[in-house]
Amino acid sequence: MARIAVFNHKGGVGKTTTTLNLAAALAREGYDPLAIDLDAQAHLTAIACPGTVGADDSVYGYFKGSRPLADLVRNAHGGWEIIPAHLELSKVDTQFGKGPNVLNKLRHGLDRERLNGDRPVVIDCCPMLGVLSLSALFAADRVLIPVSADYLAVKGAIQVEKTLNALQRVLGHRMERRYVITRFDGRRKMSWDILATFKEKLGADLCESRISETVSIAESPYKNEDVFTHDNSSRGAADYRALYEELGQAGFFGHRPAAPAPVAVPQFIAAVA
Ligand SMILES: Nc1ncnc2c1ncn2[C@@H]1O[C@H](COP(=O)(O)OP(=O)(O)O)[C@@H](O)[C@H]1O
Ligand SMILES: [Mg+2]
Repeated sequence: MARIAVFNHKGGVGKTTTTLNLAAALAREGYDPLAIDLDAQAHLTAIACPGTVGADDSVYGYFKGSRPLADLVRNAHGGWEIIPAHLELSKVDTQFGKGPNVLNKLRHGLDRERLNGDRPVVIDCCPMLGVLSLSALFAADRVLIPVSADYLAVKGAIQVEKTLNALQRVLGHRMERRYVITRFDGRRKMSWDILATFKEKLGADLCESRISETVSIAESPYKNEDVFTHDNSSRGAADYRALYEELGQAGFFGHRPAAPAPVAVPQFIAAVA
């Protein structure tokens, strides 16, 4: 099934929240999702992964070369699996460089270890455009971009488009993407203005579903829960359920034939740096 990078250079837009609730929705529908936390802040790990995680037991251990990816998979709360993150991940850029080997490492690991043949993989990206988020984009075949309904959102989306367009030149095909508006507050006029701008600029790449700013979504991580476990009858649960259904109907979780590994990595880095 699909490998989905949940990506945006901007922080606080709902990447981790969306990864959490998408993995939970997939698990509830009988799939066997694997989430990968690629953010050194390890928020998804803190919310979803029971127990403590040492650096070598996190995805850092794989980048360092000491552990196969499959060794790092753990049960998450909510009936799905996770490869956790650790603060040491913040050193990946300086320790292992930015060459093709490191940027393709996650992709090669998922391929070689056959970690996602018949299961979806959802990758929670970090806000910086460094080795980790580029590795996620190289490994993924689809990108889900949460955009929060605030005043810098449009600027952030332009930056995302610039990165994905640079990636297109390296991959030789357009990376399939869907934008979803998060943290939407219909009481604010600004939210409706942002929605109209996104509709005009993104067209069919913008999901019809949008995620409201709600108490249930804000509080569920505090209880180490996804929004469905926390309050399945809440507005937040209904919003993430609608997003899941829309993406499913659009074939977003389905298998995509593997494209060749990106090779022109230096040109790509030059284009996005
Ligand atoms: N729809 C929402 N309603 C209320 N709070 C939200 C919503 N989406 C995200 N949050 C909260 O906003 C903060 C940032 O969200 P997060 O998913 O961590 O963003 P990112 O991963 O992009 O940095 C978190 O405290 C999260 O609980
Ligand atoms: Mg996050």
